[in-house]
Amino acid sequence: MPTIVEYNQIFSLSNSFFNYVFKVNSAGLLEHLYYGIPIENGHEASTHYRSIQRALTSDFEGVEHLSLNDLPQEFPCHGRSDYRSPAFHGRNKDGNSIFTFSYQSFEIKSGKPNLESMPCARGGDAQTLIIYLEDKLMQIELRLYYTIYEDHAVLIRSCSLHNLSENEIAISAIASTTLNFAPGNFELMHLHGTWAREFNEERFPIPTGKFTIESTRGASSANHYPFMAIMEEGTNEDYGQVYSTSLIYSGNFAMHVQKNEFDSTRLIAGINSFNFNWILKPNQSFEAPEAVHVFSDRGLNKMSQHWHRFIREKISPPNFYNIPRPSYLNTWEACYFNVSSSKVLGLAQTAASLGLEMIVLDDGWFNGRNDDASSLGDWVADAQKFPEGIAWLAAKVKQLGLKFGIWFEPEMISPESDLYKAHPEWAIQVPGRKASLGRNQLTLDLSQEVVVNYIFESLDRILSCGDIDYVKWDMNRAMTEIGSTALPKDQQGEVAHRYILGLYKLLDRITQKYPNILFENCASGGNRCDLGMLSYMPQSWTSDMCDPIGRLDIIHGASYILPNEVLTAYVGPSPNHQNGRVSSLKTRFLAGMLCAGRGFSLNEEDLLKYKDEIHTYSQLIKETEKDLLGGKFYRLIKSRNEVCFQYISSNASKIFVVYFQILSAPNLPFKKVRLKGLNPDHSYELKDNKQTYRGDVLMGSGIALPYATNYGEGKELVMEIADFVSHLFVFHRSD
Ligand code: GLA
Repeated sequence: MPTIVEYNQIFSLSNSFFNYVFKVNSAGLLEHLYYGIPIENGHEASTHYRSIQRALTSDFEGVEHLSLNDLPQEFPCHGRSDYRSPAFHGRNKDGNSIFTFSYQSFEIKSGKPNLESMPCARGGDAQTLIIYLEDKLMQIELRLYYTIYEDHAVLIRSCSLHNLSENEIAISAIASTTLNFAPGNFELMHLHGTWAREFNEERFPIPTGKFTIESTRGASSANHYPFMAIMEEGTNEDYGQVYSTSLIYSGNFAMHVQKNEFDSTRLIAGINSFNFNWILKPNQSFEAPEAVHVFSDRGLNKMSQHWHRFIREKISPPNFYNIPRPSYLNTWEACYFNVSSSKVLGLAQTAASLGLEMIVLDDGWFNGRNDDASSLGDWVADAQKFPEGIAWLAAKVKQLGLKFGIWFEPEMISPESDLYKAHPEWAIQVPGRKASLGRNQLTLDLSQEVVVNYIFESLDRILSCGDIDYVKWDMNRAMTEIGSTALPKDQQGEVAHRYILGLYKLLDRITQKYPNILFENCASGGNRCDLGMLSYMPQSWTSDMCDPIGRLDIIHGASYILPNEVLTAYVGPSPNHQNGRVSSLKTRFLAGMLCAGRGFSLNEEDLLKYKDEIHTYSQLIKETEKDLLGGKFYRLIKSRNEVCFQYISSNASKIFVVYFQILSAPNLPFKKVRLKGLNPDHSYELKDNKQTYRGDVLMGSGIALPYATNYGEGKELVMEIADFVSHLFVFHRSD
């Protein structure tokens, strides 16, 4: 089991991956001591004797030489000699913002308590330390939660605030976690993007000052994925200590690192305090979402593998654990809004003949929805396009031996809809201002229970036919003019967070009622791929970018945290509809080869034109569907012109390597790539040439990468001379 020990008010949490240590200091504050590789006696973690007089600092409550200015604290407040951004900020009954949480007691629980209002990591082989702190003057209690697992390099943190007084407290900032780093030079990596260009990696030395990633858009957003990795200088895929953080939260978040004048770095992460104001009434509590920290002592690859296994085992819905994802045909880029029963049935027949397993009816199927200007909120089948209704269509599709999937955008309302005519007050809005439209639509106010109930019932009416196997849950706009018609003036600062709480309630109800439906998370692609959404949905549409070259960057960035088994990809048309690039079907398929959810979105003409190739790929999907669950992913090459990923199946019997050469060039060097994570003594047969290689050869000497030429020998290891070429190596363990 992981151990949590208390030794003279020093708390040490440890497992075989790391130690995390802090103490109660002489002023009753929690002082951080150590986070890093396991050390036998955590309480012996060395630390400076901090009690010196520095100019221009103040002593906390007159304790001699104790300034909070540079003190590493577990949950820092503001205004008492710490001038950095705090983990907590608010207004108390006296109108000032001074709070101080002092240590009262602790408790160690086996397992892990759940949050009441939000999704959270599952427990199991875990232990949780709860530290009780109190601001005696204001009569509020703060509880800090620390969970450590036996078998994961993961520390979970969160907190809750309990108002024991008779006064209201206005909370303007409450973080989930704070990490402190001893003075040193660290680098930061984060993932940023936008629509169709999600998950771009950015990396730089942490400067003095403050760097923040955040969302104010109502969703976690593609602009900044809630993820930061702080690592020692020179860290690469295989070397270096890495401390990474994400949040189990889908709304406005913020994460910042702040490096002060003494080179101390501090990370704070949680709900974004900007535009947040929560009135905590007497006897009420507030819980912060969970922050997840993953530590790696051997670089970014190990960090990613820790994340992948943790998400699979403790975040993803367990009912889809080890359940292969069906190959599919999606109607979106095949028909856009121009869908109908006959078209869908025609495509379904073709899909079945090509060996695909599911048809997904994307946007355009409901009342009057012929473009993106109307109908969101009116979840009934369009009488002209689907006169027999969805239940009939789903049953017909099932008769063809296919699964049936359908698209919803449940959180939205079009001003052009029956719902809006009946309930304009259900949209997010502020009085007297004309609302900004995003994709011609408004956001429903999920902070209102009546709205959540309406959405649940609308979806339930369609899903209850019993023939629906998959739902694509989309969300296509960012919030503006955030306000609710149902809350008083002083609670308008609560709307964005209350929306997320309403969304979680809705997702909880619908996924519990339909445990066998495969829910796919989508938000104009990867605009909300966070661990909160992934707690309800086994998979996520990573991006609307289906051009393979554009997709490679996205898969590369996403792979830092997200396992391939939560990612989906389809082969879209060429020229690509997002960037106009022309590419082969092979490269389009191989770009998504390692995602567990794989499919196609091609029209009838293309399906027939490429029928043999598609048939081959649908067979390959079937052959590999189990392999892509629970294995290990490696980023082998990522350069301007080449990308190479490797994947080892969970039983280590198969290895897939996908290689892409982006632009063609003449007379290139002969290159090799060294594989990773194999057993050196095992033998592996390469399907291409039936040659057998020992693991040590593949990892030491490597494999020859295919060479782009029109004249080469050994055809199978040669790629054509062209832009955007690719190759798949499949190895089977042969002993
Ligand atoms: C979003 C999704 C697409 C598609 C459309 C339908 O853009 O990301 O995959 O479903 O909506 O309107």
